[in-house]
Amino acid sequence: MTIKGNIQYSSPSNIAIIKYWGKAEGEQIPMNPSVSMTLDHCRSFTSVQYEVSKEIRPETALFFEGHRAEEVEEKTKTWLKKISSFFPWIHNSRLHIETRNNFPHSAGIASSASGMSALAMCITGIDRHVRDGQPSGPNIQSHVARLGSGSASRSVMGPWAMWGHSAINPAADNEYAVALKDIHQDFNTLCDTIIVVDNSPKSVSSRAGHALMNDHPWRFGRIAQAESNLELLFRALQKGDWPLFEQVTENEALSLHALMLASRGGMMLWKGKTVEWMHYLREQREKTGIQMAFTLDAGANIHLLYPYKEKERVTDVLEQSPVDFTDLIHDQAGPGPEKLLDDHEKH
Ligand code: PMV
Repeated sequence: MTIKGNIQYSSPSNIAIIKYWGKAEGEQIPMNPSVSMTLDHCRSFTSVQYEVSKEIRPETALFFEGHRAEEVEEKTKTWLKKISSFFPWIHNSRLHIETRNNFPHSAGIASSASGMSALAMCITGIDRHVRDGQPSGPNIQSHVARLGSGSASRSVMGPWAMWGHSAINPAADNEYAVALKDIHQDFNTLCDTIIVVDNSPKSVSSRAGHALMNDHPWRFGRIAQAESNLELLFRALQKGDWPLFEQVTENEALSLHALMLASRGGMMLWKGKTVEWMHYLREQREKTGIQMAFTLDAGANIHLLYPYKEKERVTDVLEQSPVDFTDLIHDQAGPGPEKLLDDHEKH
């Protein structure tokens, strides 16, 4: 029997509030739990043309923005091998993968999270046809995405997701992310404007960054800090407590970069403008009382988070800034991946 088809998903990136930084023992197990907001607009669009048959020897080709991308292709093959324990048909498949992002490269938006989650959705979608069974649930989709990139585990759902074991949430797991419930309306419609101050490619991969936490002198302090911030964030998200959200969000962002700075070799990702923007935003907040909080990923660009009702005032702050930017990308909380195409035939 041969199963053939074309499946396409779009999947968003996410921005972590409680940061995943450092791994524990095992296959892609986080050192501490993390929580993120799933974005809505910034997405990867991925299609997989496939053919599965006992006669086929495995073949994979990957095209990124129209060009064969050999490095990504190799990483994808390694990932496919890893997840073939769930999906043995991968050993008898021909896969033609095309992927693109609708946001600029190196803009401080995690393309590994959107890219790997989109691909995980495609592969679990194909699996459903091969098995002729029920679709995979979010646990398996998230698990598979996680094996490609830790943060991708949180992108297969929205608008809020948590990955990593914690006593605070009995549903949380190291193997997959879970959606957070009972979130206050202000946070389910939270806005994120990404202030791009630097669009040069990342100087250090996140894999190398995580590894610096293995023998970091602050490792155990960081684990305790993430747990206590998590507890505060839960309270803020459920009660709609903005001052508490602001405090946790900025503490996590600044702590992430402090951990990097204190690592062996001193990983320094901020640019001068990153620091200027953080000062400017805090000054404006002090002056006007606008509800806004910044956070950063492993890079120089700033994510400015604010409730929808503050949109106009935040726009004014951005327009009047004496510090310039390369680009502004407007996004907001979103529900997660979207299926765009699922053609298949069996004979
Ligand atoms: O998923 P990775 O390995 O690219 O790591 C992501 C790390 C941070 O973006 C800094 C934090 C996070 O939780 O997303």
